[in-house]
Amino acid sequence: MTSRADYDLIVVGSGIAGLYAAIQAKEEGARVLVVTKAGIGEASTRYAQGGIAAAVGEGDSPEEHLQDTLEAGAGLVDEEAARILVYEAADRIADLVRYGVQFDSSNGEVSLGREAAHSRSRILHARGDATGLEIELSLSSLAQREVVILEHTLADRLLVEGGRIAGVEVFTRTTGEHRIYTAGTVVLATGGAGQMYRTTTNPLISTGDGVAIAYEAGAEVLDMEFTQFHPTALVIPGQPVFLISEAVRGEGALLFNTRGERFMTKYDPTRAELAPRDVVARAAVREMAETGAAHVLLDITDRDDAWLAARFPQIYAKCLEAGLDMARDRVPVSPAAHYTMGGVRTNTWGETTLPGLFVVGEAACTGVHGANRLASNSLLETVVFAHRAVERLLHPPSPVPPPPEPATNAIDLAPLDPDGHVPTAAEVKELMWQDVGIVRSGESLQRASSTLRRWAASIPRPADRDGYELRSIVTCARLASEAALLREESRGAHYRTDFPEPLDDWRRHIVFRKDAAGGTA
Ligand code: FAD
Ligand code: SIN
Repeated sequence: MTSRADYDLIVVGSGIAGLYAAIQAKEEGARVLVVTKAGIGEASTRYAQGGIAAAVGEGDSPEEHLQDTLEAGAGLVDEEAARILVYEAADRIADLVRYGVQFDSSNGEVSLGREAAHSRSRILHARGDATGLEIELSLSSLAQREVVILEHTLADRLLVEGGRIAGVEVFTRTTGEHRIYTAGTVVLATGGAGQMYRTTTNPLISTGDGVAIAYEAGAEVLDMEFTQFHPTALVIPGQPVFLISEAVRGEGALLFNTRGERFMTKYDPTRAELAPRDVVARAAVREMAETGAAHVLLDITDRDDAWLAARFPQIYAKCLEAGLDMARDRVPVSPAAHYTMGGVRTNTWGETTLPGLFVVGEAACTGVHGANRLASNSLLETVVFAHRAVERLLHPPSPVPPPPEPATNAIDLAPLDPDGHVPTAAEVKELMWQDVGIVRSGESLQRASSTLRRWAASIPRPADRDGYELRSIVTCARLASEAALLREESRGAHYRTDFPEPLDDWRRHIVFRKDAAGGTA
């Protein structure tokens, strides 16, 4: 059954990016609808631990934050976007506080944590290691009072009329119905695609739906070869992967291999455990291979139970649940897919190449993370660019500026090549983990590319949420593996054994657009 309802703005997703955008637009008098595919609070945001980066501490400056962001990003950061990120940070933190978020403080001063590749302590956190939960609960309780929110409602297709966004088609899980909602503007805030990997810190909702439906609708997708792998996840068979925040290393935790040797000083003598994530994740993989173990060990036993329980209440409790007392035991950790640096290409106003379509948060690629995101810059990016997107869509300058120019050198995915095998999500995730993981090669990428090309052709028309999510995972996996195959170098989170060094020629982006004419990016 199809019915119609008109809004000024439809926001897809109820993590920090979607809720913040919806609340801001409603404050300005817009008629806003939020659709979200699970319960309102189910989003990556809820699980964020370390915090949100902002140069608000004494002696810190946006310029220093910018330098750290550029350095972590390994030569691919868009400097203009990153400058906006760090200079608008303090105002957006003030918005979050206005919306009810209470950051941790001590003696009246906000407490600032330290994370890898930051040259100083600049991470605001809440409830110790439950920053995301505090943000998600604050924004969702405000949004529930202010805007119309449809839960368990999955956006499965973008409507495009005359080359402009006209609304979304949704699938409602509880009734099995499809509906169409019309609006001149859609803001996708659907989060990342960590679920395309077997081992990930991301929740089940992170299936890259926004990237997949935007690509299908003709928007450009950028840099999907760059997935960030977090080095320290607690992986217990049969249980969801649980992140052990980088903030634990920020408080002095050290990494050892299972032979008891501290190893990070060998890979990065200066920064050691606080080297960028890609460096630490690859070092952990190497140590695991050399020792034959499935993990390395994180040691913060120089702190006592009371301190750990106060500073990292969730992590400390989770470890105890697993039979580990962080004050006495070294914690077994291994890398896990954590963050999707690539996404739908946007300009610094959240605009895509498809008029009327804005994308914010982890689903977007604004260029601020380049090839490797600096810790705690993600939550910051969501609010900085959601704010700018709302500003632009509600107050477009006159005359209305054209959307970003499409890339002249965008490429389309390789044609499908059916073999009749209908893949399960688990098969896709295993393939991605093995062949498009932390360490890749031309051979493994070629294998992933041709397998996915065959599997994509065999996926049946989705009939339920699992079906839609499988379709999204496969589209994102194809975009990631094709881009990784094209990028014949190593840079940031993309490491190829057959091209182990960065190459100047590859200081550029890979852009995919459906039905693009072809060529390299
Ligand atoms: P999400 O919070 O993932 O929200 C996406 C929303 O879209 C969800 O509501 C989902 O249900 C909905 N959705 C998805 N598809 C559809 C669809 N088809 N239709 C309708 N709704 C849909 N970053 C930091 O900066 N600091 C940290 O300390 C930090 N810690 C992290 C810890 C963990 C364990 C994880 C997983 C991530 C962490 N990150 C951190 C990253 C950060 O949390 C995310 O990048 C950020 O929360 C993304 O926000 P978002 O609003 O873009 O997406
Ligand atoms: C963490 O707490 O280690 C995650 C921080 C982030 O992803 O930025």
